[in-house]
Amino acid sequence: ETDISSKYKYFQDQGLRQLPTALIIGVKKGGTRALLEFIRIHPDIRAAGSEVHFFDKNYFKGFQWYRSHMPPTLEGQQTIEKTPSYFITKEAPKRVNHMNPSTKLLVVVRNPVTRAISDYTQAISKRPDMKKFESLVFINGTIGNIIDTSWGPIKLGIYSRYLTRWLKYFPLSQFLFVSGERLIYDPAAELRRIQSFLGLKQVINEKHFYFNATKGFPCLFKSEGHSAPHCLGKTKGRNHPKIEGAVLQRLKDFYRPFNDRFYQMTGINFGWT
Ligand code: A3P
Repeated sequence: ETDISSKYKYFQDQGLRQLPTALIIGVKKGGTRALLEFIRIHPDIRAAGSEVHFFDKNYFKGFQWYRSHMPPTLEGQQTIEKTPSYFITKEAPKRVNHMNPSTKLLVVVRNPVTRAISDYTQAISKRPDMKKFESLVFINGTIGNIIDTSWGPIKLGIYSRYLTRWLKYFPLSQFLFVSGERLIYDPAAELRRIQSFLGLKQVINEKHFYFNATKGFPCLFKSEGHSAPHCLGKTKGRNHPKIEGAVLQRLKDFYRPFNDRFYQMTGINFGWT
């Protein structure tokens, strides 16, 4: 291969990379990886494989840098990226709006109590010396005390607060709220809503999924880069520690008003309370 032709290929390739037109902005542990892996089955969707963290950590590198991290696209394909920390990043709404005010925003939400336990399970898998969930939830570690809302796994579940910031920059019509629960028990139904929201032909359906009873989650028959059936990796669908009923009840009561506010804001009752 001559030098000229490889350079030409390089430029051609670069020219086809596009900034995302849709983003999966959160929430952490909501099922964001499942959503990305499922939607990218669609032939008109191209996705960045790993989290780019542009609108939080790498914004100073500029839009050319961001674009260079996107996969090449063919005409008619949409580019999508997911970084779940965007949802809670203060500056992100303004920055995304600056890139493109018509960006479509996908948010996977899940019962904040389960989400907190999932978040904790991930954290303890990296730091096995962590305290028990119960003792981190309450100030001073005792159930008689108030809930520690400064603890990340708890704070992040107050979805209405973060959404308020986003709604200063984007109308509700530009959001799609995906139920993390439904993404597990009826992925095809959630995928129908998502394809419609993104203006895509309905390609992904029941036939793409099977329920793996051992894993306890839906898995894919085939998808990009996989010719064989496969599930998400070991870090998705971990076993959660069993949490005392009284602790769960306290958390449920704590989130109730915030959940109600979130249902009001989105016009969707997610059925967590
Ligand atoms: P757990 O591992 O705590 O069960 P994220 O990708 O945003 O980090 O979310 C991870 C969560 O996605 C998992 O949390 C799991 O509950 C959920 N999930 C949804 N669909 C899944 C699937 N098909 N396979 C594995 N996990 C899935």
